Amino acid sequence: MLDAAKPNRPELPAEIARRRTFAIISHPDAGKTTLTEKFLLYGGAIQMAGQVRAKGEARRTRSDFMKMEQDRGISVSASAMSFDFGTYRFNLVDTPGHSDFSEDTYRTLTAVDAAVMVIDGAKGVESQTQKLFEVCRMRDLPILTFCNKMDRESRDTFEIIDEIQEMLAIHVTPASWPIGVGRDFLGCFDMLNNRLELMDRADRNKVAESIKMDGLDDPKLDDHVPAHLLEQLREEVEMARELLPALDADEVMAGQMTPIWFGSAINSFGVKELMDGIANYGPEPQPQSAEPRQISPDETKVSGFVFKVQANMDAKHRDRVAFVRMASGHFKRGMKLTHVRSKKPMAISNPVMFLASDRELAEEAWAGDIIGIPNHGQLRIGDTLTEGEALRVTGIPSFAPELLQGVRAGDPMKAKHLEKALMQFAEEGAAKVFKPNIGSGFIVGVVGQLQFEVLASRIEMEYGLPVRFEASQFTSARWVTGPKAQLDKLVEANKQHIGYDNDGDPVFLTRLQWDIDRVVRDYPELTLSATKELH
Ligand code: G4P
Repeated sequence: MLDAAKPNRPELPAEIARRRTFAIISHPDAGKTTLTEKFLLYGGAIQMAGQVRAKGEARRTRSDFMKMEQDRGISVSASAMSFDFGTYRFNLVDTPGHSDFSEDTYRTLTAVDAAVMVIDGAKGVESQTQKLFEVCRMRDLPILTFCNKMDRESRDTFEIIDEIQEMLAIHVTPASWPIGVGRDFLGCFDMLNNRLELMDRADRNKVAESIKMDGLDDPKLDDHVPAHLLEQLREEVEMARELLPALDADEVMAGQMTPIWFGSAINSFGVKELMDGIANYGPEPQPQSAEPRQISPDETKVSGFVFKVQANMDAKHRDRVAFVRMASGHFKRGMKLTHVRSKKPMAISNPVMFLASDRELAEEAWAGDIIGIPNHGQLRIGDTLTEGEALRVTGIPSFAPELLQGVRAGDPMKAKHLEKALMQFAEEGAAKVFKPNIGSGFIVGVVGQLQFEVLASRIEMEYGLPVRFEASQFTSARWVTGPKAQLDKLVEANKQHIGYDNDGDPVFLTRLQWDIDRVVRDYPELTLSATKELH
């Protein structure tokens, strides 16, 4: 049911106004892969459900995960997917599933305008959902909620809604209301459009039967819903209308209210209604914060920024793909854009766009779209591309790693090779690499333990270098900024605690919070920071 979509910025060109760029956030197993698959199915991007499945399963175990990393084509084509839904163009940006990659996830969320939060109807809000939600909250992203697996025993509807309101401190408004639970689950009453949606258990790929109703007193309801369930539905909806806030599109846009749809992704149930919701209530491409001025999507000049880099998709060519979110204008293949950091022009001659199972040349792209630009390392996370203006997109952070380890090449003669490999992974954003002021070797910092294993495997695979990670005396790192005189003083007095990141920026390496407190006290003009803004 596409309402006459009410663009919140009617002046936007139609091509931009019809775009919806979003990510799905969820706890593993809630059904993100299944839902993605159904999105693509309705978007006509795949013929058969099941094509994306390999990836969801690959995530489950470490060895499979490595295999997936080897077969990088899969993860790349799934990083950003574009498909049409009615008159809309959806860009779905994948967030890495494993909690070890939360930094990557954070950056991914800088490239979207909204998020779909998937929760399991039996489990409610789980830990990873909560973490990802907090990241969305930091950016005031609008969030649409899909309560999945309603075909199974699930919690009481009010209980689920209460839990979201309480745990995530956001208003929840029901877009649909489930009828029956578990085996008795019949479908939903669409509260926004007054329709009865009936699930078809026989055919999982079939779109639910949808019957227009004249409110909940419509006698037609008796023909489809058994009396006891109908009575319960009427009671519950009446209570919901009394107790829960009505949908307010502005509040949704501000990230203060989330509409919730109930469904079953595997049975294709509720998915289309959710997609209608994304079209109707999800935002069109939003302005991008940048320095010295904000970028508006409807500017005629093209601009975009790199939020993710994926390297060595083909080990022989050492190529990389930089994922660029278009921030403004109408991009055409072959355009020359300015790489603002280096001030150099770049001809973008073979950009790619990603469809579910394939990637193809992007002949054009509009603000809101995601394109991949193959390059040899010039493009880094946080870089801005423009038609000449010196704009720098802001708000793409690099986090201080939570785990630090030393790394050595198995063969000491290969130290230079190792340095090259590490620098490349640092640029890709796969790890932080610090060169200590004293001594040889490198300190590698990551957010989760699994990243060390993935790194070791990639260094061996892509550079033919077996490496060893070993315990480091340091456990945390802070970037240090401030007046040069103070900085020099700090470095002089704490040689053994100082290192430099891959950009040559100084960091304070430490084992104890106490050390950090001491520096803060003794060097009041210096700032110690757990994040560094990439530019
Ligand atoms: P994820 O990407 O969030 O990790 O979840 P994924 O889609 O892989 O789904 C996790 C499991 O939940 C899968 O089962 C999937 O089939 C199941 N599932 C997804 N949606 C629904 C639903 O609406 N109802 C029910 N009952 N199950 C659902 P699996 O056994 O791990 O895999 P498979 O054997 O089904 O492929």
